[in-house]
Amino acid sequence: MSIVLDYLVMLPGPTNVPTRVTSAMSTPMINHRSGDFRTLYKDIISKTQKVFETTNDIVVLTSSGTGAVEASVVNLIKKDDLVIVPVNGEFGTRLADLVDNIGGRAIRIKAPFGENPPIENIKEAFDNNRGVKALYAIYNETSTGTTLRYMDQLGKLCKNNGAFFIADAVSILGGDHLPVDEWNVDVCVTASQKALAAPPGLAPMSISNDAKKYMIENPPATQYLNLKRYFKYFGESNETPFTPAISLFYAYREALDMIIEEGLQNRIDRHKQCAKAVYAGLEEFGLTPFAKENARSNVVIAINYLQGMDDKKFREILSSQFRVLLAGGFGELKGKVFRIGCMGEVTGYHIMRTLSAISSTMEILNIKPKGDGLSVAHDILTAL
Ligand SMILES: Cc1ncc(COP(=O)(O)O)c(C=O)c1O
Repeated sequence: MSIVLDYLVMLPGPTNVPTRVTSAMSTPMINHRSGDFRTLYKDIISKTQKVFETTNDIVVLTSSGTGAVEASVVNLIKKDDLVIVPVNGEFGTRLADLVDNIGGRAIRIKAPFGENPPIENIKEAFDNNRGVKALYAIYNETSTGTTLRYMDQLGKLCKNNGAFFIADAVSILGGDHLPVDEWNVDVCVTASQKALAAPPGLAPMSISNDAKKYMIENPPATQYLNLKRYFKYFGESNETPFTPAISLFYAYREALDMIIEEGLQNRIDRHKQCAKAVYAGLEEFGLTPFAKENARSNVVIAINYLQGMDDKKFREILSSQFRVLLAGGFGELKGKVFRIGCMGEVTGYHIMRTLSAISSTMEILNIKPKGDGLSVAHDILTAL
C-alpha cells in the first residue's frame, strides 16, 4: 500500500488551510433565515472590519474573488465614466478590460510587468482628465509578484480629486499592511482562499459610506452582484439576499479568529520574514526574482526559470515526488516564471520544505544550485 501525503500548498491561492478552519466546515447546517445565521453573520462582519481595519460596511459574497471585483465595477461604473487603472500584469489588464466592457473608459497607466508605474504618471492622468470617477488599483499583482507600495498616496490622490478609490486586495489582504480607513479605500475586495487562509468560495469586501450612497442611488441592472440588495438585507435583518455558503462562513469565521488571535502586525511581520527567506534562499541557489526589488511582493514570489528548467517538468516533479505545489506563470509569463504563494499560515516549516524540494528538483533536472540556499533561509527565519 502506498502512502499518500498531503500536499504543501504553496500556490498564490488556494493556500494551506489550518485544520481548525477546515473542521469548522463540519458544523451542522442551519437555516440562513434564522437567528443562528444572523448571529454568525454579524460576528463575521465585525471581525472582517477588524481585519480590514475599517468601520465601513462589509459584504461577504458567496463567490470567488472575481465576483467581488466585478461587483466593485458594475455597482460604481456607468457608461463613459473615466476610470484610472494602473496596469502592470494580467489582473490589471483584466480589470481595465472589464471597465471598458461594461461601458466605462479605462485610462491605463502602464508599466513593464515586474515594475510599478511611477506615481507621477497617475497624478498626471488625474491632471489631464477632468472628472475621473474612480481609480482601481491591484494592490498585489499576483501574475508578476509585485506590490504597489504607494497605496496610501493613491488614497489621498483620489480624495483630492473626488474620485472613488478601489483596491483589489484579493491576493494580499491578511498578509501585508492594508488599513482601509487610513488609506481612504472606498471599496476593498479580497477572497477567502489566499492570505486569509480559508477555503475558496467567499469574497469579503468593504464599502465606504460615499460608495454605498452612490450604489444605493444608482443600482446596476444585475441581481446577484447588486450590492444595494446586500445593504438592504443586512440593514433589515442581518442576512444576505441569497443563500450563503454557510459551511464556508463557519470556516471563514474561524480563519478570522486565528488572524485576530495572532495580531495583524505579527502576521504581517511573519509574512515579511518568510518572504525574505524565500527570496534570499532562491537567490543563493542562483535563481532571480522576476519583480524589480522595490516592487517585490511578500505574499506572491515570482521567480525566473533558468535555461533547462522546463515549467511542466519542474512543477510535476515538485508535486509528485515532494508533494509541494507551486504555480506557473500565465499570460505573457507562461513558461517563463514559477510563482510561490507565501501566505496565510506560512511559517519556517513551509519555507524550508519548499526550498529543499526546489533544490532537489533542480538537481534532478541537472541544474546544480549554486550555493546553500537552505542555510541562508534558515538564518533569516531564525534571526530575532
Ligand atoms: C489580484 C487578483 N485579482 C483577482 C483575482 C481573481 O480571484 P478568483 O480567482 O478568486 O476569482 C485574483 C486571483 O488570483 C487575483 O490574484
